Amino acid sequence: MQDERLVMAGYREEDREGDLSLRPRSLREYIGQDAVKENLNIYIHAALKRRDALDHMLLYGPPGLGKTTLATIVAAEMGQNIRVTSGPAIDRPGDLAAILTNLNAGDILFIDEIHRLSRAVEEVLYPAMEDFALDIMIGKGPTARSMRLDLPHFTLVGATTRAGQLSAPLRDRFGMMFRLELYTSEQLAQIVKRSSSILGMPAEEDGIIEIARRSRGTPRIANRMLKRVRDYAQVKADGRITRQVANEGLNLLEVDELGLDKVDRNVLLTMIDKFSGGPVGLDTLAAATGEDALTIEDVYEPFLLQLGFIQRTPRGRLATPAAYLHLGRQPAQQALDPQINFLNEDQ
Ligand SMILES: Nc1ncnc2c1ncn2[C@@H]1O[C@H](COP(=O)(O)OP(=O)(O)OP(=O)(O)O)[C@@H](O)[C@H]1O
Ligand SMILES: [Mg+2]
Repeated sequence: MQDERLVMAGYREEDREGDLSLRPRSLREYIGQDAVKENLNIYIHAALKRRDALDHMLLYGPPGLGKTTLATIVAAEMGQNIRVTSGPAIDRPGDLAAILTNLNAGDILFIDEIHRLSRAVEEVLYPAMEDFALDIMIGKGPTARSMRLDLPHFTLVGATTRAGQLSAPLRDRFGMMFRLELYTSEQLAQIVKRSSSILGMPAEEDGIIEIARRSRGTPRIANRMLKRVRDYAQVKADGRITRQVANEGLNLLEVDELGLDKVDRNVLLTMIDKFSGGPVGLDTLAAATGEDALTIEDVYEPFLLQLGFIQRTPRGRLATPAAYLHLGRQPAQQALDPQINFLNEDQ
């Protein structure tokens, strides 16, 4: 039931025409991610002062946190054009060469899902990023020779949900790397407030907070839930988003009071009921839940980790006592066992 999910990696409701107005257009309008904004502000002003292109930058973090939005803001703040493409869209080295030779000095080249570039395409990118040069082969066999073309000074902005999958040579060529973090409820409330006023929806503070609290740290989900609650308010109430209306509208979406959806609960309950709370390996968990392993890792796990509902151990994922409590299950013995060594992030 792909379509019913709230948390979908590839689905871009906000990219539809008419919804684009919700995207902030300047750093000042961009809510949260203060450390990233502070750094960017300095680097952008320095580059403008030097009349130079900005250094290449990598934006990474879970889906829907504002990577694409930030790339367009960087272009706007620099007063430059942005050219948007994505890793899977660039099939052959020649495709990338064509894009590069069509850039103007100062342009921002945004490559989404940059971890999905093929190795052959990546190799075109190395000299382009480092020396603003394109190496092309002329002729074939023993008479073949390589020629170097100069490229304009452009800025590559790469985005990925999986920084770990980037090859080292590519990663090393980015002058800046920014990791986007899940948003706090207060920041999400600001985002929901801003969106509801842009969309002209009457919303009470309590209703806004309710939506923010349940949007699992993610602006894309906050905006999407706001729209569903608006629908509910228009049909079942007088159109005003109150706390009660938000509550009822979100319950209808099967999002619980912490923001967990059906898939989150399925993942946790599978760990608890089928694997006694774990530890269970990612692939086993994927097979048992019918979800894709990468989707669990990129889309669901960050929020469950943040809530403290799962932990990563050397032997796999473990449901914590807090998860048992939230789902009304009796904690298993190993979930309480202090002997298990917890690893922090990536294992
Ligand atoms: N800091 C923010 N302030 C206000 N709104 C935001 C912010 N970040 C994101 N949004 C909203 O969330 C939506 C999703 O953001 P965006 O498309 O930039 O995410 P993304 O990180 O590129 O996601 P993906 O990894 O799926 O490509 C945007 O349309 C925008 O309306
Ligand atoms: Mg994006």
